[in-house]
Amino acid sequence: MDATDMGGDLAKVLLSEEQLQTRLDELAAQVDADYAGRDLLLVGVLKGAVMVMADFARRLHLPIQMDWMAVSSYGAGTTSSGVVRILKDLDTDLSDRHVLIVEDIVDSGLTLSWLLSNLRSRNPASVEILTMLRKPEAAKVDVDVRYVGFEIPTEFVVGYGLDYAEKYRNLPFVGTLAPHVYAD
Ligand code: IMP
Ligand code: MG
Repeated sequence: MDATDMGGDLAKVLLSEEQLQTRLDELAAQVDADYAGRDLLLVGVLKGAVMVMADFARRLHLPIQMDWMAVSSYGAGTTSSGVVRILKDLDTDLSDRHVLIVEDIVDSGLTLSWLLSNLRSRNPASVEILTMLRKPEAAKVDVDVRYVGFEIPTEFVVGYGLDYAEKYRNLPFVGTLAPHVYAD
């Protein structure tokens, strides 16, 4: 899917495919260096992190393992409440593992804050977070995100894994939607 497949639904491209991929090169180089000689487990948060995970993991030279969690936050509409339910748990025992959570976006930070304490309670050697995007709201919750792709403004974005009503995840870029999409 690309901009031409969206009719008039696209308002603007915020981050191009090239910008995203170039940034992932940098992040992968950093993670390779930081975890050299260690055994790393990447934990992706479904479904939004699928694209980041696929592109990021392929850039790492380190041998890694990959696991997935699906969580749902209770709350109305597009705002997160911080009350989280596990829909799919990890298959991996985290004891003494170095864990890197891979996320698409940190908005309120409430989901991640919950996830972090949940995973930390499983006795891992370490837990860090990598997110492709972060909104300013996240600063309100004290979550230490080690690797951030891009800081973006407080706007609803789609693409590169992120959806509106389960659509637009397969865009290679990150963009905003025209107002009429929300009104339909
Ligand atoms: P939180 O507010 O940090 O808890 O964000 C929870 C989840 O909401 C993220 O992992 C995304 O799946 C989703 N989300 C937050 N902001 C956006 C956005 O701008 N577009 C699409 N999904 C979003
Ligand atoms: Mg997410």
